[in-house]
Amino acid sequence: MLKPCCLFILVAVLLSRICTICSVKTLVSNATIDQDALESVAVRNGRRVTALNVSGFGFGGPIVPNLGNLTSLELLALTNNNFTGSIPQELSNLRRLSVFEAGYNLLSGKMPSWLGTLTELEYLRLNGNAFSGSIPRSIGNNTKLVLLNLAYNSLGGVIPLEIANLSSLEMLDLKYNGQIVDSIPDGIFDLSRIEAIDLTGNSLSGELPSTMCDNVPRLSGLYLSANLLSGSIPFDIHNCSTSVICPWDLPLTLCGGTTKLEQLFLGTNQLTGRVLDRICNCRSLSVISLRYNNFTDNIPKCLANLTALNYLYLGKNNFTGELPAELVRRVCRIYVSLIVARSPRV
Ligand SMILES: *[C@@H]1O[C@H](CO)[C@@H](O)[C@H](O)[C@H]1NC(C)=O
Ligand SMILES: *[C@@H]1O[C@H](CO)[C@@H](O)[C@H](O)[C@H]1NC(C)=O
Ligand SMILES: *[C@@H]1O[C@H](CO)[C@@H](O)[C@H](O)[C@H]1NC(C)=O
Ligand SMILES: *[C@@H]1O[C@H](CO)[C@@H](O)[C@H](O)[C@H]1NC(C)=O
Ligand SMILES: *[C@@H]1O[C@H](CO)[C@@H](O)[C@H](O)[C@H]1NC(C)=O
Ligand SMILES: *[C@@H]1O[C@H](CO)[C@@H](O)[C@H](O)[C@H]1NC(C)=O
Ligand SMILES: *[C@@H]1O[C@H](CO)[C@@H](O)[C@H](O)[C@H]1NC(C)=O
Ligand SMILES: *[C@@H]1O[C@H](CO)[C@@H](O)[C@H](O)[C@H]1NC(C)=O
Ligand SMILES: *[C@@H]1O[C@H](CO)[C@@H](O)[C@H](O)[C@H]1NC(C)=O
Ligand SMILES: *[C@@H]1O[C@H](CO)[C@@H](O)[C@H](O)[C@H]1NC(C)=O
Repeated sequence: MLKPCCLFILVAVLLSRICTICSVKTLVSNATIDQDALESVAVRNGRRVTALNVSGFGFGGPIVPNLGNLTSLELLALTNNNFTGSIPQELSNLRRLSVFEAGYNLLSGKMPSWLGTLTELEYLRLNGNAFSGSIPRSIGNNTKLVLLNLAYNSLGGVIPLEIANLSSLEMLDLKYNGQIVDSIPDGIFDLSRIEAIDLTGNSLSGELPSTMCDNVPRLSGLYLSANLLSGSIPFDIHNCSTSVICPWDLPLTLCGGTTKLEQLFLGTNQLTGRVLDRICNCRSLSVISLRYNNFTDNIPKCLANLTALNYLYLGKNNFTGELPAELVRRVCRIYVSLIVARSPRV
């Protein structure tokens, strides 16, 4: 019978020979390998291990600094274990890393600024840990980042302006950190490849930047609920053509000249004013949440024309008038139970 560590040696050999990216999980029993064995095997024999995925192996304790010796690594996935402490600085030696995932662990402390030296990074997931402090400005050096997921930590401070340097970014997820403050940097809305921005559940304030819609043609999900955003935006200063879409009173051209936006979450802020008919120009919208704000006046009738609309959350506002009957027929679920209005007739 092979001992688990011997088995691992075999696996490591296979890994280095035949795999560029693969998971060893199916081949190795998780509970029995310790991290040192894992690393020493790979390094001592001078193998070029390019991918290491120990997601869900049940590892605990600190991440061993020796992993920093695996300098050929392009993929390191430590997701869903019980790793504690900070990310050892030795990992800054992994200059070829393009995928680094350490989500759902017990990692804490500041997000290391040396991450900015890993300039090949395309996918960085540190979500579901206990990182605190602010997002390091050095993140702006990771210009190849396609995905940045720092959700579900305890990060605070401001979103660094340098985020605007991440011109390849498609997905930005900072949701539920709670403490991220101040305004949303305008530069986020200059990321021309961005498809989803999720800033839900923070303490962002101020008004949405007036140019937010001009340069994000691929944006299909904008999640800004549960912040402290305020203001109503001066619609009249915007010159929207029919092909340039202006939902409600968001400034300028939220849909960036396309109708791609599918999900718009703006609930639980302090937004005010009327929801203008122009929201209906975003023809792909399937979910709209406006609940828990201070919107006033009538609910736009044209919402009934949004054929993709499935969920419409309007509760806890200051809407008046009736709920358009056609709308009720069309939309599968309309969450109006908390509408503060003059008895809307459904
Ligand atoms: C790591 O392996 C797990 C399960 O084996 C898999 O679900 C996950 O996608 C892998 N991660 C990466 C980055 O390849
Ligand atoms: C991995 O560890 C967990 C928890 O100890 C256990 O439930 C699971 O069966 C283990 N998986 C394998 C493949 O041994
Ligand atoms: C982390 O440790 C706790 C307590 O020992 C255990 O219940 C849990 O399954 C572990 N989680 C993972 C992902 O290994
Ligand atoms: C691996 O890394 C550790 C700690 O970073 C270091 O002390 C050790 O000399 C390295 N081993 C090899 C074989 O390079
Ligand atoms: C970021 O990149 C610049 C220019 O390449 C470099 O001078 C700086 O040291 C880098 N900062 C970090 C924290 O990686
Ligand atoms: C990175 O962002 C900062 C702050 O916005 C800016 O001053 C700098 O010019 C940017 N660097 C690059 C290379 O784009
Ligand atoms: C918007 O229209 C006004 C007058 O109708 C014009 O003065 C202004 O230049 C236009 N702005 C843009 C960005 O086109
Ligand atoms: C709505 O406006 C009232 C009065 O200005 C204010 O007290 C309340 O906090 C506001 N609610 C929200 C959710 O912004
Ligand atoms: C719905 O669309 C049709 C056709 O474009 C239009 O005639 C009608 O006025 C629209 N209804 C509403 C309530 O906007
Ligand atoms: C709600 O609407 C009523 C009537 O339109 C208005 O008098 C009141 O000031 C509004 N309250 C808020 C908080 O906007």
